[in-house]
Amino acid sequence: MNALAAASVIRLLQTNPNAVLGLATGSTPLGMYRLLVEAYQVGKIDFSLVTTFNLDEYIGLNADHPQSYHAYMRTHLFRHVHIHPERTHIPNGTADDPDFECRRYEALIAGSNGIDLQLLGIGANGHIGFNEPGADPCGRTHVAELTESTRKANARFFTGGEDAPRYAITMGLGTILTHSKRILLLAAGAHKAEAVYRMLKEKVSNDCPASYLQTHPMVEIVIDQGAASMLLETAHEK
Ligand code: F6R
Repeated sequence: MNALAAASVIRLLQTNPNAVLGLATGSTPLGMYRLLVEAYQVGKIDFSLVTTFNLDEYIGLNADHPQSYHAYMRTHLFRHVHIHPERTHIPNGTADDPDFECRRYEALIAGSNGIDLQLLGIGANGHIGFNEPGADPCGRTHVAELTESTRKANARFFTGGEDAPRYAITMGLGTILTHSKRILLLAAGAHKAEAVYRMLKEKVSNDCPASYLQTHPMVEIVIDQGAASMLLETAHEK
């Protein structure tokens, strides 16, 4: 899974060194980032002209907070490769005016000539970015309230007695769908099987925000056996 996903990014950077990447955090893309770092170390890819936009950031966590997505990106990718900090973009979770920050971030993406490849994970409830069930399908970068189930899922990272944040700034479904030229979604583990099934097989609806990917012309999905298990069961039943 990691090799397939990394190969897609490597191919893109080799053919377009100026590529604009949309980045996701969380557990799922960790192996892929490791392979991208290795590819950089052996001179297969170069990040010096690459621009990145992360999907989201928690409200209230500054860039130095170990659980911020700023810290995640530094730890797992940015500090290992030669990438210009001014070309890496992540919403500012401690902006004085979060709504202004959302508009600023959306305008930056709009001014970028499009995201060549947007990487996505999926939540067990079908969220992409932090577009939780019920999210506006045309929504742009906005402040989202995380559901209890997402906060529970993310609590595993907040081990110091701290609560997982309740709010985040996230690209909207509209941002992802209109600005991404290609999308690569990764999912691993049986706990993602239902979300993957609903994303691909159910009618497009914001009950499962990821189902809106059915309306995008260029989506690649890379999943493991566990995440594919409901698809496989129903295929066997037919
Ligand atoms: C992360 C993000 C989220 C995660 C999703 C899956 O930037 O936007 O949508 O992709 O919650 O998280 P993991 O990979 O930890 O299961």
